[in-house]
Formats: sequence, C-alpha cells, structure tokens
Amino acid sequence: MAIKHFLQLSDFTLDEFHYVMERARIIKRRFKEYQPYHPLLDRTLVMIFEKNSTRTRLSFEAGMHQLGGAAIYLNTRDSQLGRGEPVEDAGQVISRMCDIIMIRTFGQDIIERFAAHSRVPVINGLTNEHHPCQVFADVFTYIEHRGSIAGKTVAWIGDANNMLYSWLQAAQIFGFHLNISTPKGYEVDLARLPAEKSHYTLFDNPVDACHQVDLVNTDVWTSMGYEAENQARLDAFKGWIVDADKMARAHPEALFMHCLPAHRGEEVSADVIDGPQSVVWDEAENRLHIQKALLEYLVVGKVIETPN
Ligand code: CP
Ligand code: NVA
Repeated sequence: MAIKHFLQLSDFTLDEFHYVMERARIIKRRFKEYQPYHPLLDRTLVMIFEKNSTRTRLSFEAGMHQLGGAAIYLNTRDSQLGRGEPVEDAGQVISRMCDIIMIRTFGQDIIERFAAHSRVPVINGLTNEHHPCQVFADVFTYIEHRGSIAGKTVAWIGDANNMLYSWLQAAQIFGFHLNISTPKGYEVDLARLPAEKSHYTLFDNPVDACHQVDLVNTDVWTSMGYEAENQARLDAFKGWIVDADKMARAHPEALFMHCLPAHRGEEVSADVIDGPQSVVWDEAENRLHIQKALLEYLVVGKVIETPN
C-alpha cells in the first residue's frame, strides 16, 4: 500500500482534515488536563532541519515526547546531509531507523524526492513552496474562534510565499475565498494558481483586499533563503503593512493571523499584532495539538476510542 505523506495540504481530503482536527481537539483537552496519552510509545520521529526554526522544532519534539515517543534532531551542519549525500540515499537510510520523518528544507522537489525513497510517512515542516502544518493549525485556530471557515473571506497581504500557496490550497479544500494583495514585482506565480479560479481574487491595493474580510493574514516580507533581497523587499513592500487602517476595513469581528516570527513595524504594526483581534499565540500553540494528531494519524491510522 502507498505510504501516506503530508507534503502539501492537497495530500489530504477534507474528511481527513476533519478527522485529524477532531483528534486534535481530544488531544488538546487531554494535554490541558494533564492526562497522559501515549499512542506512540516506543515510536521515533526524525526531524531534519536545513533552515532555522523555533516553533516547528519545539512543537514536533515536545509533541512526540508527549505522545510517548522520541524525537531525534538532525541538521545540515553536522549530519552527512550537508556534505552532499544524495537525498534519495538519505531517505532510504533514515526511514529504516524510525517511524516518521519531518523535514524543513528549501525546494519542494527535495522533500518529494526524499519521500519517494522513504519507507515511512514524511511531513513537510516548511519548504520554499509550502508550509502545510502552519496553515492547517491556522485553519483549526480560526474554527476554534469563529466556527466553520467555509464561505468566509480571508485576506492575504504581503509576499507571495510558501504560506500564501498553502492558504490557496486551504481555500480550495475548506471552501473559503482568498483576497490576495502583493506588491509589484512580487506577484503570485500565475502558473501556480489553481485552475479553479472561484476561490481567490487578486487586488493591486492592499486596503481594498481587506474590505469586509473575516480574517487578515500576513507573513514576513523576506522568507528564509531570500535574505539577499531584504533591502529591495523593504522598499517594495512599503504600504503592505497590516495596520489599524487596514484592520478597520475588515469585518468588525475579523481576526488577525501571522505564522511568526514577526517584524513589528514592517509587515504588521505593533498595535495590530498585540491587539485584541490578533490570535497569533493561539496559532503557535495549535501547531503542537494539530501536529500531535497528525503524527498519530500518520503512524497508527484512525483511532477508535470512547471519549472520556
Ligand atoms: N511558524 C513557524 O514555522 O515558526 P518557526 O520557523 O519558528 O518554526
Ligand atoms: N515565510 C516564512 C515562514 C517562516 C515560518 C519563511 O519561509 O521564512
């Protein structure tokens, strides 16, 4: 049977997302009540990082421990991955010694090649093209605060980066609309937009993109791997800051999200990210709960248990 991976959101069906979110609710409640829950006893997660991380490393490592398993951290600096070992060979070897693998790397092609040679499930912990774990946690966070996201409108203000492309997939899967505004020179790659055009609208003006939306979303202007473009991006993105004026255009009940880390005064003003509409800390915490449910699903499959 084909191994189930989570390399982008489109790898899962809506039913699978609903199942994993239901498990995340149960696992989160148990965590809050200090109830031990160890479905992954003696299982091992290997985490491979080719880029920096705080939230992703912490949530996967703590999550695996809380599920009764162990997590091993590898990075490019001190493993053979940084010395040119073919990714296909790494996939073969690493997957013979563990039960599940999480990778943060550069090109999506790297994780796809690794997964094609892996004997165990592989999770995308961020690539240049996608950040599915974060957007899954964000959708879960929206639903916790406001109920179903289907039929809602979400604004994306800023860079056409990995987060945006995962939000585009989420819009198709969960049935909401995305208003996208990016500066000139940093537009969405039209070739990567879904054929189905009813789930998004492109706006030249970021203020217009916020009109009556239910959620305003942004991210750093310079993603990891693009640092050489930082100064040019600071100039080009002026005007794309999510500030009180833009939030005032949104629905009064609108939420603000940012996957973090954030730069106050660049992509978001301090009064917005630290203000009452911001749910950024809930998004960060929900990485833990959603990924624990994801690990459980990918390692042991669907769990049938009577709720307690
Ligand atoms: N949001 C996110 O993935 O954070 P880290 O880069 O700290 O893992
Ligand atoms: N778009 C950002 C997300 C960081 C979590 C990056 O890729 O650096």
